[in-house]
Amino acid sequence: MPGNYAIYRASVEPEFERHHGRKPVHHNEVRAVMERHPYYQFWSALQRCSQQRMWDAVIDSVERAWPRLNGKLKRSPKRGSLRLDPALPIPRYHTAADIHLQPGGYHTDFVDGDVAAGAIYDLGLNIYSHGMMGPRNEYLGNLLIQYFLKAHRGFKPQRILDLGCAIGNSTLPWARQFKNARVDAIDVAAPQLRYAHARAESLGVPVHFSQQNAERTTFEDQSFDLVISHIMLHETSRSALKQIFVECHRLLRSGGLMLHLEIPRGKTVIENFLYNWESWNNNETFGQYMTHIDLADIARQAGFASDKISCADHAVPREKEQQLYSEETLWKIVEAHR
Ligand SMILES: C[S@@+](CC[C@H](N)C(=O)[O-])C[C@H]1O[C@@H](n2cnc3c(N)ncnc32)[C@H](O)[C@@H]1O
Repeated sequence: MPGNYAIYRASVEPEFERHHGRKPVHHNEVRAVMERHPYYQFWSALQRCSQQRMWDAVIDSVERAWPRLNGKLKRSPKRGSLRLDPALPIPRYHTAADIHLQPGGYHTDFVDGDVAAGAIYDLGLNIYSHGMMGPRNEYLGNLLIQYFLKAHRGFKPQRILDLGCAIGNSTLPWARQFKNARVDAIDVAAPQLRYAHARAESLGVPVHFSQQNAERTTFEDQSFDLVISHIMLHETSRSALKQIFVECHRLLRSGGLMLHLEIPRGKTVIENFLYNWESWNNNETFGQYMTHIDLADIARQAGFASDKISCADHAVPREKEQQLYSEETLWKIVEAHR
């Protein structure tokens, strides 16, 4: 990855400047030149292969354990709960293409009562993140909790809702941190939720999982003090994103907080371009629009008052060797008080 920055600085940007008399100002301008460069082509082909090999590798091991894993769900004790809705329509932004190339996406059941897509996501996420998520993939939950504890000292939520929870990897740290709160977590994908439930029970953490679309849930108005999400928004769509913020506004009690952690999109055009490798080559189709979306404005349109919204980049120090699509990792955090 660092080589992409090197060729950009040494040849791609100067070539663009020679032709246009200025530097590129949009990631699509970078794309037009970068995609012709053999170094980038080689790196991109390797990156695409690595995604395919990642699923090949984890699917083999999940397949070996498949009957045992599906059986575990039936035997799991009940501290929390699981409520599925087989009639829930899966949004087109999930059915149209397998996000990250995961075969069948997040939501496909290959047999009745399946947990495979959840187990595959659990193993795949750890490889995809180069181990950064930690052994239980809890990095993002812990990151947002640390931010929350600093930014909202004294705020003790009693009811928490995690949107797009998948296997509950980011949800569990919240349930452990706020032991007296009731924690709900929703996702559209049944196999993720089955796995999430069995996983949470086997780790002894009470969470109430239900299969719901974050655009419109069945919870009553003003049910929650805190509504959170971790890297979900960029896997939705323009209209869904707006509707999810409207739903957060509806679900929060007065004084409650919505708090979303999102994938960095980069600060410079080359970083914008590299983050969007995922959009063009890894079926994160909506991600490219997130580069320029004004999340604070969407929160305003959803009914949050301007002076109660904040949207900022959250810098996290990282080893140089872990460098991914940007030279500095700037997670996006958008939050708003009702
Ligand atoms: C990248 S995963 C993130 C999972 C988890 N939050 C984490 O931190 O790793 C995005 C999840 O959001 C879910 N999702 C996307 N759109 C949704 C929606 N409209 N309603 C509920 N869940 C949704 C997907 O099914 C998927 O499980």
